[in-house]
Amino acid sequence: MSFVTQRDPKTRSRGLSFAALRKSYWVTGVLLALALLSLPWLLSPDGQTHGSWQQFLGRFHPLVVHLPIGLILLLPVLEFGGRFRSAWREAASVVLGCAVLCSAGAVVFGMLLAHGGGFSPDAVRIHMWGGLFLCLGVIWCALIRPSWAMGRVGWVYPASLIVVLILTAWTGHQGGSLIYGKTYLTEFAPAFIKRLQPQKNYPPVDPASVYAMRVQPILDSNCLSCHSGSKIKGGLQLDNYAHVMDGGNDGEVVSPGHAEKSLLLTRITLPADHPKFMPSEGKPLAAKDIAWIKGWIQQGASPKATALPGMEVRAPGAAERIPQVGDYNALTPQMIQIEKTLGIRLDRVSSKAADGLILRTIDVAPKFGDSDLARLEPFAPYIVNVELGHTKVTDACFASLAKFNHARAIHLEDTSITGRDLQKLAVLHELRYLNLSSTRVTHQALDQFASVQPLLHIYAFNTPAQPSSSPIK
Ligand code: HEC
Repeated sequence: MSFVTQRDPKTRSRGLSFAALRKSYWVTGVLLALALLSLPWLLSPDGQTHGSWQQFLGRFHPLVVHLPIGLILLLPVLEFGGRFRSAWREAASVVLGCAVLCSAGAVVFGMLLAHGGGFSPDAVRIHMWGGLFLCLGVIWCALIRPSWAMGRVGWVYPASLIVVLILTAWTGHQGGSLIYGKTYLTEFAPAFIKRLQPQKNYPPVDPASVYAMRVQPILDSNCLSCHSGSKIKGGLQLDNYAHVMDGGNDGEVVSPGHAEKSLLLTRITLPADHPKFMPSEGKPLAAKDIAWIKGWIQQGASPKATALPGMEVRAPGAAERIPQVGDYNALTPQMIQIEKTLGIRLDRVSSKAADGLILRTIDVAPKFGDSDLARLEPFAPYIVNVELGHTKVTDACFASLAKFNHARAIHLEDTSITGRDLQKLAVLHELRYLNLSSTRVTHQALDQFASVQPLLHIYAFNTPAQPSSSPIK
């Protein structure tokens, strides 16, 4: 698009009248606007994933989208400065031209992302139309600005610019919420700002409740890779009660007392090949897990209720209280010695010996191997948390680990284990947490092991057992 702000004698001498030039300028603008308006139909976000090239290009949207934002914010500054220096005004017309091109680009990439990446239409609709109207607004500004520069349309251009600025802020916020979740902006805001927004106060979760004992552990092991931390797919976080109840981009996902109306249950009970099925990667939930979630919602989705009719909240035989470890104080001299020799730390969980020790290898991780672990066996019965992430240990470590009979958490993330001999950990009855992420642990090893340790939360993100890339097209 070209921008003509003044009658240029040279153009006339080439035989193109000013009126004709202005007409073609408007025609170009209107055609561009119509082309953009057709995109929601050509590339409709229907919730399915489409073609990898669309997804590839679409992922440039977050990058490209910042260009028009910067240019649009610069415009009022330049226009204002133009009152004092005419060069600024000329710069504004160039910046506006670039803003048209960049925002049209951002819309196209955005539509490709929404269409290609399987975004739910409901979630993406508001942001999509916001972006589209914003782009049309920028085109409109570019079309009327030449007249404004000649003093014809008065306040229409400044007013349009203000609308465009407001739309920019609003659409940007909608886009941010889509990716990072609705509470992203205010999550760490000072309390007085948080008080300004409508807050839902949920009662605290009872640690002995159906929710804490049964529902959250199911979400923890199956959903958090996409619904917590920096990955908040569908605007939904599932890492605690308040987040679950807050829902996602489509609103609430749990409707207390109405399991059949709850999106959370709908998504996990669809046919497994349905594009909306959850978890969208990894194993479908076991029938037993679905029964817990369904029962919990049906009974009112309470954070406190400790019983469900006909279902035993605590698994038979599960430990009611945390078993205590023996007194390691008599071993203190040997502990200090081994800490020095291996460069590891044996930290006390609390001042009570019965609460056990934490083995920390972080300072020496790159050189800590199986033989070092074997040397810690005399202290094994006192260690409740075994941190071996990023160390050199191999599958041979399981023989030693089996002696950590009070271990509740074992970290093996980012090691070279494959899960051979993982079975040896079946004797660890107090084990509740096992992190095998970013290892080479296989499906077979995991499946066999999970069946003997039903209370265990196993994390196997980014492994052959649970690849990080989607197998679902
Ligand atoms: C591999 C990634 C992944 C995993 C694992 C996953 N989800 Fe999702 N989930 C997504 C994506 C992507 C979306 C957004 C697209 C859509 O709505 O299908 C989504 C959306 C949702 C929504 C809709 C939210 C809304 O308001 O639109 C629900 C409900 C949901 N997931 C539940 C679950 C549950 C329950 C689990 C665990 C059993 C789970 N998801 C595991 C990727 C995942």
